[in-house]
Amino acid sequence: MPAEAVPFFSFEPMHQAIRAEVLEAMAACFDSNWYVLGRQVADFEQTYAAWNGVEHAVGVASGLDALIIALRALGAGPGREVIVPSNAYVACWLAVAATGATVVPAEPDPATHNLDATQVAAAISPRTLAVMPVHLFGQACHMPPLLQLAERNGFFVVEDNAQAHGARSAGQLTGSIGHLNATSFYPTKNLGALGDGGAITTNHSQWARFARAYRNYGSEVKYFNQYAGVNSRLDELQAAVLLVKLRQLERWNAERQALAAQYLKHLQPLSALQLPVVASGCTHVWHLFVVQCAERDALQKFLTQQRIQTMIHYPVPPHLQDAFAPLGYRNGQFPVAEQLAAQSLSLPLFPGMRPQQLEYVCAAIRAFFGNP
Ligand SMILES: Cc1ncc(COP(=O)(O)O)c(C=O)c1O
Repeated sequence: MPAEAVPFFSFEPMHQAIRAEVLEAMAACFDSNWYVLGRQVADFEQTYAAWNGVEHAVGVASGLDALIIALRALGAGPGREVIVPSNAYVACWLAVAATGATVVPAEPDPATHNLDATQVAAAISPRTLAVMPVHLFGQACHMPPLLQLAERNGFFVVEDNAQAHGARSAGQLTGSIGHLNATSFYPTKNLGALGDGGAITTNHSQWARFARAYRNYGSEVKYFNQYAGVNSRLDELQAAVLLVKLRQLERWNAERQALAAQYLKHLQPLSALQLPVVASGCTHVWHLFVVQCAERDALQKFLTQQRIQTMIHYPVPPHLQDAFAPLGYRNGQFPVAEQLAAQSLSLPLFPGMRPQQLEYVCAAIRAFFGNP
């Protein structure tokens, strides 16, 4: 048993290994005397686009802004609908609402927590502008049926790749599959900055060009404005840090995968615990390791007593959030999302987590269930 508590997440092991490199990159930025939309952002955009297998990456201030700007590039607004997962992190709902378009929720596959194409098909209308798959918890959503639906029905696919840098669906990297894709570099993401950041990725130059202008006051040429844009630029310092961290991403993802494999092995005999399922044709980069348990709250309390930190992703589904009360949804309308909210528990997992820490978590969970 480790003497110290098991944290849900820790930057320490990752950051200690790259400390000198990051500080050097930040110092170079300081010395450059150019702090907004300079060489670091341009280098990062180029490097991240190549890494992600797309033509264009446009750095913005956050993942939420990336989603909003991607939707704006497609002309989202009043009278158009965007299909989103009923169980997703609230950002994609907020992004659709910010453009004035209508959120149309579709239930996920209860095993993978990712969008179910059959449910998406049932949500299509003549007003559908786009579907927004979220690669939740790090697992790629199965994309081929969604792409087929989009093609047949003439709408767009916008991936929310905030949690899944490096995952693949049918062999293709998430963030390179949709017409436009958004990601977040929030610090705890698989690729995280030291503050806020995000990016839009696409193979379509007209949308990349729009995003590049829109994030910068809607301006391509200084003091000339084509669009009523916003100030949502990726920061030079964050871009410099991201360039260093991107070089570690595959190694960190492999570590997450090895830890997840250990959890699956140790917890597999517990029939009261539903373990994460990876869909065939999809890969998982384990941003989060989320189990389902009917006794979730009691299990979480027990683990807290054992000094094991856990989290709930997410306790309230978007349709029941106060922010969306004006949409008039009620409890019972999206039962899959509601059940996932009631039963999900995220266990500690981060690159650098020690095997003894993982074994301690598993032993505590086994003890909760009476050591079967
Ligand atoms: C799935 C998902 N989409 C979008 C976002 C929004 O990203 P940000 O916090 O950078 O705005 C997040 C995370 O925080 C997220 O997890």
